[in-house]
Amino acid sequence: MKVPVSLVNAFQNDFESKLGDFLVQNQLIDGKDLLENKRYFARSIVPHVKAFSELFNRKEGVQTDGIDEEDYWNEGNAKNRRLSYLLSFMPPNLFRVASVWAELHRLGFQFPKIEGEFRGLEFGAGVASGAAGIITGEKYAPVGLPTSGSFALIEQSKSALTMGAKWFDYLSESYEQGYRSRSFHRRIELNEPWLPKNAPSFHLMVMSFFLNESPLSPEEISLELLKTIENHLEQEGVMIIVEPALKLQSRKLLHLRQSLIDKIKSSSASVKILLPCLGEQACGALIKEEDWCHEEVDWMRPRYLRELDIMTDLDRRTLPFSYLVIQKTKRSLNEIFTNFEGKDEERYRLVSPAKNLSKRTSEFFMCGQDGKRRTRFSPEDLEHPERGDILQNVKLHGEPSLSQIDSATLKRYE
Ligand SMILES: C[S@@+](CC[C@H](N)C(=O)[O-])C[C@H]1O[C@@H](n2cnc3c(N)ncnc32)[C@H](O)[C@@H]1O
Repeated sequence: MKVPVSLVNAFQNDFESKLGDFLVQNQLIDGKDLLENKRYFARSIVPHVKAFSELFNRKEGVQTDGIDEEDYWNEGNAKNRRLSYLLSFMPPNLFRVASVWAELHRLGFQFPKIEGEFRGLEFGAGVASGAAGIITGEKYAPVGLPTSGSFALIEQSKSALTMGAKWFDYLSESYEQGYRSRSFHRRIELNEPWLPKNAPSFHLMVMSFFLNESPLSPEEISLELLKTIENHLEQEGVMIIVEPALKLQSRKLLHLRQSLIDKIKSSSASVKILLPCLGEQACGALIKEEDWCHEEVDWMRPRYLRELDIMTDLDRRTLPFSYLVIQKTKRSLNEIFTNFEGKDEERYRLVSPAKNLSKRTSEFFMCGQDGKRRTRFSPEDLEHPERGDILQNVKLHGEPSLSQIDSATLKRYE
């Protein structure tokens, strides 16, 4: 997936400095120089990052197992625990969400005009990486989000929520935007209504690395998820879900998508799954047990994170993830994405890296209205496409097991 250069670069310079100021102001570190202090990292941060990483990657279990530790935010030295997440996991998750926003931007999505105050919400907010990702996305790849409003942060850990609310408010102010957080300390039972009946409706909902912590099946989750959209998402409102790229967790999201599509078809709900697939066809990656689907974005890590990655054996030079964008709308994809051209059935997205078979020919998997295809392409005068790119006006021949593109247009929208 391609994101604007300004978003990529922001994280090395501006962002690191903002985060450092925030940490000092909130007495989480004594001085910004600690972000360059390897001894401090080794003693206070690295052990927590490793523990989080083992937990999130389910080193002790199966990737689809939920995480039933109610409050992993407070283990050991709780202050360092939360600081470690904020330093190591918040920026990548924030960037992933901002990248999905940038994808909406490049496809020509326009946030609907709203009356009254804008209301956003993050489920399982932790330190508000998702909400912060949205406002960062809007800063560098705007789609016309109202410039002020509120973000409800819902989270079961009080200490993470307190830190997240402060971080979100600080970031919004430093971007000179007018958003403010509203904190709701509560645990959501995902097989019961996610919001109280009398809760308001929202224009935007985001979840980042939240659903995979539930042990419930995608079918069970989809029931209340759809009800939440029907009852608490405004007409034309948007929901963004970002989840890990790990095979089993990513397949769980694909199953969730399928289950939602089945339920939407048999209900009167005007709900559409906009991305990453360019239609609501059956998912090609679910046909084979060993297959799955994920995106990947490049970024420039903050300098301290490069060092921390080396010390923790993590490699976040590129950020993989799985995602869904859902909208409550009656409009067609062509109306929603103003940069779409040509016929729906001639539009495909690359869902794998492109392998160069020769200087002229590359091979990749792509998904369109008719499912997934292994495809070869020898563009005469085009750049070779990459994972996440969209090819339009595609004329091809051959079978899904191996097709050849005769002609196509590649629009990067930048
Ligand atoms: C991996 S963290 C992600 C935090 C943040 N959204 C991010 O992307 O960095 C998952 C968060 O969801 C919260 N969470 C998990 N299940 C929850 C539930 N059922 N109700 C409320 N919060 C929950 C956890 O406490 C944790 O803070």
